[in-house]
Amino acid sequence: MLKLIDGKAVAEKIRSAIAKEVATLSGRPPKLVAVLAGSIPASQTYVGVKVRACREVGIISEVIRLDEDGSQDTLVKQIKALNVDDGVDGILVQLPLPTGIDAATTLDLVLPSKDVDGFHSLNMGKLLAGRDGGFIPCTPYGIVVLLEESEIDVEGKHVVIVGRSNIVGKPLAALMMQKRRYGNATVTLAHSRTKELAALCRTADVLVAAIGSANFITAEFIKKGACIVDVGMNRVDDPSLSKGYRLVGDVDFADVKERCSSITPVPGGVGPMTVAMLLKNTLKARRD
Ligand code: GUN
Repeated sequence: MLKLIDGKAVAEKIRSAIAKEVATLSGRPPKLVAVLAGSIPASQTYVGVKVRACREVGIISEVIRLDEDGSQDTLVKQIKALNVDDGVDGILVQLPLPTGIDAATTLDLVLPSKDVDGFHSLNMGKLLAGRDGGFIPCTPYGIVVLLEESEIDVEGKHVVIVGRSNIVGKPLAALMMQKRRYGNATVTLAHSRTKELAALCRTADVLVAAIGSANFITAEFIKKGACIVDVGMNRVDDPSLSKGYRLVGDVDFADVKERCSSITPVPGGVGPMTVAMLLKNTLKARRD
């Protein structure tokens, strides 16, 4: 029997626990500021989803919008102002940034104690070193919590992650390989230059698809009985829908469903968990 891993339900549970905690805080509520540079439609949607989620749990949020042709200078000034604003707990710079703005420099400007995305070098370094107290990037954090809540233990298992991004693949590998909670897996990080990718993926007990390519993972990539985590959020044209597109994952669900034992659906799998962990990190920023 195929088990659908219900990220929406787990995320709702986490969100309601966060709402209760926010309500018991003394002083002001937590505040998150999202910086949205440029006009990529998917980024606008994601930021909108995050703002709404904040409102539902009692976290104040604000969006600072910068033009596509806004300079790095303007962005630097904005982030520096937010860093010293005592009323702001969390700062999120939505990626990707417009061409001409360097992401690494920008992300390293965010005060590490307000870096609720966990993308600052210091927080990434803490994660890799297994140190406590840093922020864990929201999507990898959401994935390990979702697996734990679904009673899928990665300890001693072979986890193959396809995709080496700084947002998902690299931090997820660091989390799952560490000698502590969420960890103790044997991790392989595969990518676009990996040879014999399908054969490698067939050795995975847990396969994580974070490639950014619609329906890339088909049945030939799957070991019978494997668990599949689909991180993909790809827009595919669909004129029959009012918004003109539909969301599909990196995994060809119809093709793999007979082979795997469990899978995160798209939508309703990893996506809601990412948002829930952003709220969790923002609450942590307010408390610490
Ligand atoms: N772009 C795609 N995913 C993310 C994310 O988790 N955080 C930010 N800031 N930008 C993203």
